[in-house]
Formats: sequence, C-alpha cells, structure tokens
Amino acid sequence: MNNKSYVDFFRQTSPYIHAHRGKTFVIAISGEAILAPNFHSMVHDIALLQSLGMRIVLVHGARPQIDQRLQLSNIGVKFKNHTRVTDPNAMQCVKEAVGSTRLTIESELSMGLPNSPMHGAHISVVGGNFITAKPIGIQDGIDFQRAGQVRRIDNKAIDAQLSNGSMVLISPIGFSPTGEAFNLSYLDVASHVAMALSAEKLILISQPGAINDKERLLRSLSLPQLAELQETLKDPEHAELLGTASVACYGGVERVHLVGYQEDGALLKELFTREGSGTLIMKECAEVIRPASIEDVGGILSLITPLEDQSVLVKRSRELLETEITRFKVVVHPEGLIVGCAALYPTTDLAVGEVACVAIHPEFHDQGIGARLLSEIESDGKVSGMNELLVMTTTTAHWFLENGFNEANIRDLPENKQSMYNYQRNSRIFCKAI
Ligand SMILES: CC(C)(COP(=O)(O)OP(=O)(O)OC[C@H]1O[C@@H](n2cnc3c(N)ncnc32)[C@H](O)[C@@H]1OP(=O)(O)O)[C@@H](O)C(=O)NCCC(=O)NCCS
Repeated sequence: MNNKSYVDFFRQTSPYIHAHRGKTFVIAISGEAILAPNFHSMVHDIALLQSLGMRIVLVHGARPQIDQRLQLSNIGVKFKNHTRVTDPNAMQCVKEAVGSTRLTIESELSMGLPNSPMHGAHISVVGGNFITAKPIGIQDGIDFQRAGQVRRIDNKAIDAQLSNGSMVLISPIGFSPTGEAFNLSYLDVASHVAMALSAEKLILISQPGAINDKERLLRSLSLPQLAELQETLKDPEHAELLGTASVACYGGVERVHLVGYQEDGALLKELFTREGSGTLIMKECAEVIRPASIEDVGGILSLITPLEDQSVLVKRSRELLETEITRFKVVVHPEGLIVGCAALYPTTDLAVGEVACVAIHPEFHDQGIGARLLSEIESDGKVSGMNELLVMTTTTAHWFLENGFNEANIRDLPENKQSMYNYQRNSRIFCKAI
C-alpha cells in the first residue's frame, strides 16, 4: 500500500472508529477459531478494538479442546441435541480444557513485544464468577448431568470491570448456588451476556456467515428472513449459530455479526469497512431503500463504474449524475454502504417512465434486493401518474421478464426514446403496465 492509499484507508475507517467508541461488544470465539493459524492475529485485532475505546467482553468456546482431553483420558464423547452429556469424569476434562484454553487467550492478550501489534497495548484481562448456571437435567430419558444452562448473569459486576477499562474474558463454565460447576455452551453464555449488558453488538467468530441453500453468503438478514432461512438449514452447527443470533436479536441486541475465523482480518473488515466480511443480522429489514441525495453520488459511482466498464450500463459522468440525482433511489446497508441503485426518468409520453441504471452490489445479489428496489420504482411511477414502465437492457432481459416485463420493440417507445435509440448498443426493450 503506498502512502496516499494508506492515508485514504485510515481516513475511511474514522467514521467507524467514532461510531464504535464507548460501545459494548460481546465477542464469542469458537474453540475451532482458537486452534486456527489466524488465532494470534485475531486476538491482536480484538486487542486493537479495546485500544480504540470499545468495551469488550470476550467469551470463548472449547469444544475441540475438550474432545481432545476426553480422548487422552479414554472417555467417550457423547452428544445429544448438540449438547455434551457431561458426567463427573468428563467434567474434570472440561475444566482442564477450558482452563488451558483460557490461559492461551490470556497469554496472547498479555503479549507486548516490540515489533508486534501488541506492543504498548497493556490490556488488563479480568474474569470472575459472573455466570450462574442451572443443570439441563433429564431430557428424553437422558441425564445431561454436569451440562448446564445460563440462569443469571451478574451484569453489574461485568459492567463495573468494563467501566474500569478492563477486557472481560468469560469461559463457558457457570456455577450453581449449590457450589457446583456446569459445562455451558459458549454461544448460550455469549447471547445471555450480550442481552444482560444490552450490548450494541454480539459478534460470533466461527463460520464465515449465513449461507443459503445455493451456498451463497448472505450479507445481511432481518429476523423474518433469518426465520425463513432456519427452516432450510441442514448443518446443526450453522443452525446453532443462527439460533443464537435470533435469540440475541429478539432479546434486544441491536446487531449480531457472524464473522469467519479462517479469513485473516475478517473481524476488522466487518467492523471498519463498508463492504464488511460476514453476515449482519438485525431485527428489522437490514437494507433501507430511500431517495438518493447529492452525498450518495460517490457511492453510486463506485457501484456502477465497474458495470459501465463492462458495458452493462451506459456511461454517466459525475456531473450528469449530480444533475440527475433526484431521479435515483438507493439501497443502503445499515453500515452505510450503498448496495443498490435505480433511476426513473420521465419520457415525452407522460404516462410512460423509463427505468434505468438498475444495479445491485455483487456481494448482495440474489437476496431479493433488486426485486424490492424495482417494486419501489414502480410505486414511484404510479404516484407520478405513469401507467407503464420501459427498460432497455443488453444483458438482463430474463431478470426483467421474471419481474413482470414483456418484450417490446422500438415502435412502442415514446418519441424521444425512438429518436435517441442507440442502434450500436442494440439493447432489447421491455415494458410493464403498472
Ligand atoms: C440484475 C440485478 C439488478 C438483480 O439484482 P438482485 O438483487 O440479485 O435480484 P433479485 O435477488 O431480486 O433476483 C435474483 C434472481 O434473478 C436472477 N438473475 C439475476 N441476474 C439475472 C440476469 N441477468 N438474467 C437472468 N436472471 C438473473 C438470479 O439468478 C436470481 O434467480 P434465482 O433466485 O432463481 O436464483 C443484479 O444482478 C445486477 O446488478 N446486475 C448487473 C447490472 C444490470 O444488469 N442491471 C440491469 C441493467 S438496466
């Protein structure tokens, strides 16, 4: 990266630094992520968040570490409904594995070598008996023994530590009022902590994000969309992650992020870039469609320029876009990125409007955003007294057909559109009565 792009990049992150400062983020990191080669840089990235003024509660998992211990002690691994049946011998292994995993994280966070990202970080990491647990008990005849559920979170004690400037590290073990320790799901702990603290974000570092049945990463989901997706899920781990996100959102956590551990820097990308890296889950519909304003010109240009370069869209200069900005609608992701745009132009026939410059950011394709945008444009047309829309396209004929348009020809165009028709471009023409 040269000096100029380094400075530009740093400046672009500043709105996110301002927005996140002083906010409470609960970060749940899976046991698999702790074993990954990226783990060192991941912890250093989390330390950076703390240095930038975010209040961090880190909850860790330890499933593969516990499996390893059980194997070493020749104790069978027993799961029912994705929960470990934990007898007293297995519980001993759980304590050892969780304790050792916790120490690994603490030592990483204590690093301060010169020439390392942790130099000068001085992070104070605290833990404690913040989680009260209760046994799961017997279900379908199976006694889960020392496997437990969260009963209560001491949010005041956690909050006091955060206000002191410490990072709170929570392990997936809770204690009952009878003095017993219980093995908990780190996701259950993380969602309860996030709800009890009314955290601004719950970040689950595990799989790269929510994936639909076409193996496509979904960049954002509202709760109704999440519920629809949950019905189609086959992978129990994926289902557990999405279930946690849903519980936390219904429980008042504003935003839940799913971030992969395999991509280096995915957490920072998710929090400090408009593109993000994983999936954002929110209660309401995540993307907002609104009329464009002059401030959106830069965002629209970065969306449409690659499509203009491929001749999918007709070239528009910045000046032209600025003059015509009131004709545009944009789709805005909650983190500020413009992920879609479309324009509606009048023609010489007042009853006919032209839809143009329809574009959705490639990472947001196939999530129904284009169809939603088109239907908003149709409503705008109706409000303006139009009864027909036309569109000219070279590559997207089928998409318009599937959205209710019918093929037409040049003679069907309003006068000004006929005289300006670009024969070299040879676009196909589609119309829709509205
Ligand atoms: C066309 C475009 C706007 C669709 O946006 P989107 O948000 O992905 O659309 P939706 O989610 O509503 O619809 C997705 C469906 O349309 C299909 N589709 C997308 N582009 C298509 C195309 N060019 N031809 C045929 N079908 C297409 C998808 O395969 C998907 O179908 P499926 O659900 O059966 O798999 C988007 O692909 C895009 O920006 N393309 C580049 C720009 C462009 O061509 N603009 C039109 C010029 S005016």
